[in-house]
Amino acid sequence: MEENKAYEPEFQARLDKHYDELKWLYCEIYRNDMQAFNYFVDMLHDYYQARKPELKEWDDGRLLAEEWCQNNATLGMMLYTNCFAGTLKGIKEHLEYLQESGVNYVHLMPLLESPKDRSDGGYAVSDFRKVQPELGTMEDLADLADACHDRGMAVCLDFVMNHTSEDHEWAKRARAGEKEYQDRFFFYDDWMLPNEYEKYVPQVFPTTAPGNFTWCEEAKKVVMTTFYPYQWDLNYANPVVFNDMTANMLNLCNHGVDIIRLDAVPYIWKTLGTNCRNLPQVHTLVRIMHMAADIVCPGTLLLGEVVMEPSKVVPYFGTVEKPECHMLYNVTTMASTWHTVATRDVRLLRHQMEQVFQLPKQYVFLNYLRCHDDIGWGLDYNFLKQFSIEEVKHKKYLNDYLTGNYWESDARGELYNDDPRLGDARLCGTTASLCGIEAAEYEQDDEKLDRSIRLDLMLHAFLLTQSGIPVIYSGDEIGQLNDYTYHDDPVKAEDSRYLHRGNMKWDEAELRNDVTTRQGRIFQTLRKLEEIRASIDAFENQADTWILEPYNDHILAMGRYYKGQKVLGLFNFSNRDETAWINEDEEYTDLITGEHRDDARAVSIRAYDFVWLFHSYRPAPEAKEEAPAEAEAPAAEAAAPAAEAAEAPAAEEKPAKKAAAKKPAAKKTAEKKPAAEKKTAAKKAPAKKKKEEVKPEEAAKEDA
Ligand code: GLC
Repeated sequence: MEENKAYEPEFQARLDKHYDELKWLYCEIYRNDMQAFNYFVDMLHDYYQARKPELKEWDDGRLLAEEWCQNNATLGMMLYTNCFAGTLKGIKEHLEYLQESGVNYVHLMPLLESPKDRSDGGYAVSDFRKVQPELGTMEDLADLADACHDRGMAVCLDFVMNHTSEDHEWAKRARAGEKEYQDRFFFYDDWMLPNEYEKYVPQVFPTTAPGNFTWCEEAKKVVMTTFYPYQWDLNYANPVVFNDMTANMLNLCNHGVDIIRLDAVPYIWKTLGTNCRNLPQVHTLVRIMHMAADIVCPGTLLLGEVVMEPSKVVPYFGTVEKPECHMLYNVTTMASTWHTVATRDVRLLRHQMEQVFQLPKQYVFLNYLRCHDDIGWGLDYNFLKQFSIEEVKHKKYLNDYLTGNYWESDARGELYNDDPRLGDARLCGTTASLCGIEAAEYEQDDEKLDRSIRLDLMLHAFLLTQSGIPVIYSGDEIGQLNDYTYHDDPVKAEDSRYLHRGNMKWDEAELRNDVTTRQGRIFQTLRKLEEIRASIDAFENQADTWILEPYNDHILAMGRYYKGQKVLGLFNFSNRDETAWINEDEEYTDLITGEHRDDARAVSIRAYDFVWLFHSYRPAPEAKEEAPAEAEAPAAEAAAPAAEAAEAPAAEEKPAKKAAAKKPAAKKTAEKKPAAEKKTAAKKAPAKKKKEEVKPEEAAKEDA
């Protein structure tokens, strides 16, 4: 530690806690550059001192940040400032709406200065200290964050750390020939090394921005640009870059940002001869950033954007003792969910959930159905291999289905970065349009509309049943449809992600209380589900979770247990009515209808519907008056569990999880074939049917 530095006791204590590890890691990655390290520590101190008292107070309250993100009442929404309300001030005026939507965590999509025609949706930042002028100012950001905190809402903001815009000051100076600034990026005199890199590095935007390097005419050099040519990769091997970028991050925290989304974090370290993704140094840097936030603004949480294959995602949590990100996007579950919509076969999703259930409960996933990006088909193809499903053909099938080019598909998506070379297209569209609501409204087909809305709500119910933080994409709460206007905007036309980045339709939101409308049906049901979720302990992140065997590959069945409460979630991904042949013998209450059931056996579920069943093992309150208000009543509408509590068995009785593995009664198996038999049957099915006659769930297998 630097000699004779007198820090405030609070800062000193926080620094002491991490000092050895911090110095060790920093010196390891920056080759004992003590000057850089001392600068880094001083910088942390500067930001600690600059942090305003209100935020320090918020830090104190949020020191239990981990608890905050374990909470079943946490609900997020992600939104673009311009699309949602025009400006930051506009968002402030709409906080009431967000609260009414149950949201207590707002993710503001990138809003820092970015060149209009070369912004990648704000992900090409030209000034990390300045808000895009038409959205407002840094003061507006701080003011909005204060207003959110007053309402108990947390604010998330992107920290686009892998690259800067080519208009960023560092890039301008690099372009003008200043070596010091060229060293902050990856500059090469000729194409020799770039070509060498290209042998190992895949492409992010193969169609819209092929290649990982761009010729810079002014500098007469080649510069690394993993994403768009106007996004220049920062060289984190240079400690100046890391120090200054960490300072930029802390500056956002000091403007009241609570959750920092580490954009494209797997890409931040490059080594020739590797694929330049997920390298060990990335983990070291994230761990250092975690400690930096712990020292300066301990209420801050790091959310890693790690859109990678499943095995690469979890390591970004670090270890329980040495955490890296507090939260990670549950990208694999999201993609597997849409695979399941298209195949109506839950086996992959079930396998995926089993993987997630095995992780330590301290790990918090951010769950979502749709975000601002495309859906990439990063599925567990090794698992799918056993069903003879091949990656390229399967991606084509999924894209065909979800763009509506398939029999019995009402989805209305568009392809994204269709790379014919790899057959690797990804997919865009809003939840509602992918669920068929757009097609149903267009065709004015009420039955189809009912079914599509059911699918939309079932997917949201599944989202809310998962452990972690559910985040809704703005507009999804009223079932907003695709926005095709981007096709007419030359700046956006090439990027189909704008299909689902339309403006918030406030006229449609007006209909949210009218349950005869699509908007009202979705909004009100979501609210009800969120309230139920928030009122039942079994939905907490700490709950035990397990998969139940429904002997039906169309139904995903899972259980949650915590503090004497048990919830079963059954999700029917088929467009036909199905039965979940589960075998749970406690009494249950249907959380949606309030109906009582003597057991949970042979539960029938309508096409695309779901069931939430609740059982409490808690002792019944002696007398109604003595029962504490919060005791057993989930949500107002689902008051049934409160009544049911009176019949609850003894307190300590544990749920019979093993029962999940029990076989259903013979009578039932006769009606519906158990999984194993069905698999063979599916394989044997004649492959000769015309494509139009093949059901999607079969086609996915046959296509392979
Ligand atoms: C992230 C963003 C995406 C952006 C990319 C480059 O993946 O989610 O929208 O294009 O980073 O910054």
